Amino acid sequence: MKHAVSTLIYLTLLMVSCFTHADNASYIVCIACHGEDGAGAVSQNSPAIAGLDKQYIKRQLENYQSGARGAAKGDISGGIMRAIATSLTPEKIQDVSSYVDSMPRPILSESITGDIEAGRRLYGTCAACHGSDAQGLPALNAPSLVLQQDWYLVTQLKNFKNGQRAYESSDVFGRQMQPMALILVDDDAINDVVAFIGTLRQKDN
Ligand code: HEC
Ligand code: HEC
Repeated sequence: MKHAVSTLIYLTLLMVSCFTHADNASYIVCIACHGEDGAGAVSQNSPAIAGLDKQYIKRQLENYQSGARGAAKGDISGGIMRAIATSLTPEKIQDVSSYVDSMPRPILSESITGDIEAGRRLYGTCAACHGSDAQGLPALNAPSLVLQQDWYLVTQLKNFKNGQRAYESSDVFGRQMQPMALILVDDDAINDVVAFIGTLRQKDN
């Protein structure tokens, strides 16, 4: 009897792991650039994606697919991701977004330095949408910034500023973010706010 019960538990666990793997299958195509752990790689300009909110991931994949993101002239990295996104069916987008959301948060290290106190003051504006801890507020469609690589935050803030992101009116949420990037007047301001966000990441690790 004891043996039968443990066999049953074993079989249940096996089934659960099979289902998890079924989910995982949708992620295999992403590994080459975003890594097994979803932390991304600076050498490929590919961001961290593990643990991001599934609605945010889904929207980005749909935006790349429709050309609302990644189709701006000169945006090489966006173009690479756009090519991948255009190969995904709506079901695949749904599956991979849920799977990536469920991945454990990646271990990230800091690479950007700046004036933390100046960054803290600048972040006051950002907190309204991204939260005081930068964990993101899904109700406002604002993603977590602490789950993201710092160099990628810098790139994206520049992309918003120079119109390589949020260039389409259909990119409603990108359009909400764009004016916020414009309050960061120069590269120092961008580095300062990103360096401050790094301190929030260290705090909650
Ligand atoms: C050939 C390399 C490559 C592959 C494969 C790839 N990506 Fe990407 N991905 C990138 C790059 C580069 C970027 C940055 C694009 C940019 O700057 O807009 C990116 C950006 C993203 C973003 C935007 C993140 C953000 O916060 O702005 C998401 C989401 C994403 N990828 C998900 C995926 C998923 C899911 C898969 C697998 C189905 C995948 N990617 C496969 C290279 C890749
Ligand atoms: C009015 C609300 C709002 C404010 C204020 C705001 N953001 Fe955002 N932010 C958003 C939304 C919404 C998105 C998601 C856009 C999308 O879906 O493409 C976003 C996206 C971003 C991204 C892209 C992240 C990624 O993974 O690609 C960065 C970086 C960012 N915000 C930084 C900031 C910083 C820094 C500030 C303060 C200077 C700020 N935001 C202020 C709403 C806001």
